[in-house]
Amino acid sequence: MKLGRIPLGCAVAPFLAAAAVAVAPAQAATVKVGVVLTYSGGGAELGTQIDRGLELFLKENPDAFGGHTVELIKRDSKRPGGDIAKNAVQELVTREGVDLLTGFVFSPNAIASAPLVTQAKVPMVVMNAGTAWIPKLSPYIARVSFTMWHAGYPMGSYAHDKLGCKTAAAGYTDYPPGKDSLNAFQTGFEAAGGTLVEAIPMGGPREVPDFTPFFQRIKDAAPDCFYVFVPAGVHTAAVAKTYIATGMKDQGVRLIGPGDLTQDTKLRGMGDEMAGLITMHHYSADYDTPVNKAFVAAWKKEYGEDTTPDFMGVGGWDGMAAIAHAIREQDGDITAEGTMKALAGWTYASPRGTIMIDPETRDIVHDQHVHEVVKGDGRLMIKVLDSIPQVRDPCKALMIGKCK
Ligand code: PHB
Repeated sequence: MKLGRIPLGCAVAPFLAAAAVAVAPAQAATVKVGVVLTYSGGGAELGTQIDRGLELFLKENPDAFGGHTVELIKRDSKRPGGDIAKNAVQELVTREGVDLLTGFVFSPNAIASAPLVTQAKVPMVVMNAGTAWIPKLSPYIARVSFTMWHAGYPMGSYAHDKLGCKTAAAGYTDYPPGKDSLNAFQTGFEAAGGTLVEAIPMGGPREVPDFTPFFQRIKDAAPDCFYVFVPAGVHTAAVAKTYIATGMKDQGVRLIGPGDLTQDTKLRGMGDEMAGLITMHHYSADYDTPVNKAFVAAWKKEYGEDTTPDFMGVGGWDGMAAIAHAIREQDGDITAEGTMKALAGWTYASPRGTIMIDPETRDIVHDQHVHEVVKGDGRLMIKVLDSIPQVRDPCKALMIGKCK
């Protein structure tokens, strides 16, 4: 909360008072930021990535906040169900009086909290949750991460046109971003002339299912490509294992998906047989740019040589950069309208490349890259094969479903 400006004494002569008004500095404000992340349970490593990203930004950029102080008030949303996150938001808004909300790994947690954002007029900066229509749920939501369509839609046309897949099957985790990712891929793939032969829901986001029966079904359908969206983390590692164990690779079914499937933190634990996997995404720790190299070096210095940031860590970093900008622009006096106005058209040199908040949709605009998993440097790493610059969310651009 901003403390207001230094009050002027009544006894001060009018000309002195006028001079004092002109030079009086704004008092440094303490801006309370409510951080809702999944710090425990199956999604703990995802929440921790984002937390590390946002904390690193604060540490490395103390001057980015216009002289104001940020007080982080953290809450654990524990699981993807929405209820715990919503209660946390309620408490942060009513009891803690936060000026701003951020975090949100899982879409249902952002979706359940959206009505409170509108009612309380406390702005939300989404650091991960990727269901395309989330910013449509409140005029006070902006997103710095991605939408499921940024990767899924161009992956559809790339699979058909460049990978030569005439048929494809899709497997997805059965919750909003999974359905959204399927929809994105199917729309892009069919528009390019491909045929989707199967679309299989593969359990919910909370528990990692045994993927074997789903993969077996796909194997029997023998498509050219198998598009998979599962939430990053423990699900990703299990998909890689099951793909090899079921012999799908040997059969010649090509595994593809958004970059959640080749998350930097999980890539290290995958076997060499995953080399050749193609995904579409906006970030890898292996990007060879000065901004990213500096970011990865700072990360390793802070958290250990054997750690790596991934797209979630970058979401935390960029989210805090956006919050810093909003605080600076409003001189510490945060309102929902003021925050959205400050973020509209904001551009930033992120470790992922140039990002921008689309003033019309309040959603992120960023480059997409075709990632190939290659062997190098004693580990699996990402090689960029192709890039699509500055992609606006295709779901909103095409006005599909709830994105209208
Ligand atoms: C989401 O719930 O929106 C979500 C979670 C994990 C991901 C991507 C999207 O990797």
